[in-house]
Amino acid sequence: MIGLFDSGTGGLSVLREIVKLLPDEKYVFYADNAHCPYGEKSPEFIRERCRVITRTLLAEGADIIVAACNTATAAAIRTLREEFPVRFIGMEPAVKPAALGTRTGVIGVLATAGTLKGSKYLATKGNFEDNCTIVEHVGRGFVELVERGALTGPEAEATVRESLEPLLEAGADTVVLGCTHYPFLLETLQKVAGPGIRFIDPAPAVARHLIYVMVQERLLSEGEATRALAKVIELAEAEAMGKQRTAPARVPDVRLISSGDPLPLQRMFRLLYPAVQKTENK
Ligand code: DGL
Repeated sequence: MIGLFDSGTGGLSVLREIVKLLPDEKYVFYADNAHCPYGEKSPEFIRERCRVITRTLLAEGADIIVAACNTATAAAIRTLREEFPVRFIGMEPAVKPAALGTRTGVIGVLATAGTLKGSKYLATKGNFEDNCTIVEHVGRGFVELVERGALTGPEAEATVRESLEPLLEAGADTVVLGCTHYPFLLETLQKVAGPGIRFIDPAPAVARHLIYVMVQERLLSEGEATRALAKVIELAEAEAMGKQRTAPARVPDVRLISSGDPLPLQRMFRLLYPAVQKTENK
């Protein structure tokens, strides 16, 4: 069973990509929405929440855990790896593909304050700063919009515009979505930015990395691993040819847990998959 967690519903953008590769796997997803947003909270607080969440996911039967949250990855992944006997997969700031793809030589990064201060992000940024200009902005109010399910419309556009405009004015043609909530605002981001701007969601790369780690850890049978790797190739080819998935996504087997109101998680899950799943308060 794969465990995932986030401060709220954002991590479902990562689950969605993993499910494309492993549709028959069992999942448990923990949304810590009683403490959302994590963005401005102290690393100590986030680490403590991550410990509590990890214990819950392990008790539920998770044998590998995805920190589907950039802010939690920045604050806690090292501690979690030291303290728990289970493999953790964290979020990667997708600066590299952005730096390789930019034509203007300017890339934008949208993330939370916690992620932008994290040592992993700062180190990654340092590796690419000689090749391109990197401009950053906190996605102010983005997480709140997503938690409320306000993904499109005038309010979402106005909120998104405020944080996106400084990046566009600086000449960015490629923008990294450094928070797992932000991909749910992609339609609005693209509308505000215009068609020439490319947004990068790191979730597909994280999903691929998870497959490789699960193969290493022998958490996938040979058949599952072969099917998942075939899917990786199929999706890459479809993307290269600009094709979108047309068949409706099958509802995966996911146990949804919220530390607060279960509604936001249920609502977002229903948006991704055409069925309602049980959510529990913990
Ligand atoms: N989804 C999260 C992330 O990837 C957390 C956002 C927040 O709670 O501030 O950073």
